[in-house]
Amino acid sequence: MRKPIIAGNWKMYKTAAEAKAFAEEVKTALPSAEKVDAVICAPALFLQNLVESAGNTDLKIGAQTMHEEKEGAFTGEVSPVQLKDLGVEYVIIGHSERRQYFNETDESANRKVVSAFEHGLKPILCVGESLEQRDSGDTGNVVEAQVEKGVARLSAEQAAELVIAYEPIWAIGTGKTATAEDANEVCGIIRKKIESLYNEETAGAVRIQYGGSVKPANIEELMNMEHIDGALVGGASLEAESFLKLLEAGA
Ligand code: G3P
Repeated sequence: MRKPIIAGNWKMYKTAAEAKAFAEEVKTALPSAEKVDAVICAPALFLQNLVESAGNTDLKIGAQTMHEEKEGAFTGEVSPVQLKDLGVEYVIIGHSERRQYFNETDESANRKVVSAFEHGLKPILCVGESLEQRDSGDTGNVVEAQVEKGVARLSAEQAAELVIAYEPIWAIGTGKTATAEDANEVCGIIRKKIESLYNEETAGAVRIQYGGSVKPANIEELMNMEHIDGALVGGASLEAESFLKLLEAGA
């Protein structure tokens, strides 16, 4: 069966001291890694300290984006090789905020996903529809197209290792969560799409998270759904106590 994966996305929050204090608190109370993968995706400048604080514990560290090239003249960017070198394990790719504010597309997300695998990082590929697309009944088509373009050129083995985060844009940071049934329905559509692009085994292995106003009060209901294997959490991942509650519910 698929192991749940709960990932915090800190976005552009926290100071170095706050990040360290969080890791020190969380690492002592983590549920077993046999039950749940616990990941914190932090701003790039805290990654080294977080990897050091996490040490040999089961707290895994992820980046929030990366450049697709392994090196080069790309001022301000961070490469997959640099992330891997620090001991970073995961990387969020194609978050809707990257698409909205930094011109990322399905095509650039795909290049980054391919590059992440190539350099030994585990990508979390984000997909999700806008409110307008949902209201016009386009959710399924939009998400299927994002998935198809996002996984282009991946082998079945890589696709099986991929984490896909379904994050409806209208539910991010708004306090509006998709109902567990609606979220499950779209995660099911994503799984079917992977099956049609690869095969049943790959679709059965790929882990699909829901993201969008997940908090301790609603995570259990989401995690009880057939196609939801975890959560990508913004606001509620910022406090250690709340993140630990999310992990407990996921385990
Ligand atoms: O990547 C996580 C995300 O965008 C959801 O944020 O604050 O609604 O949990 P939030």
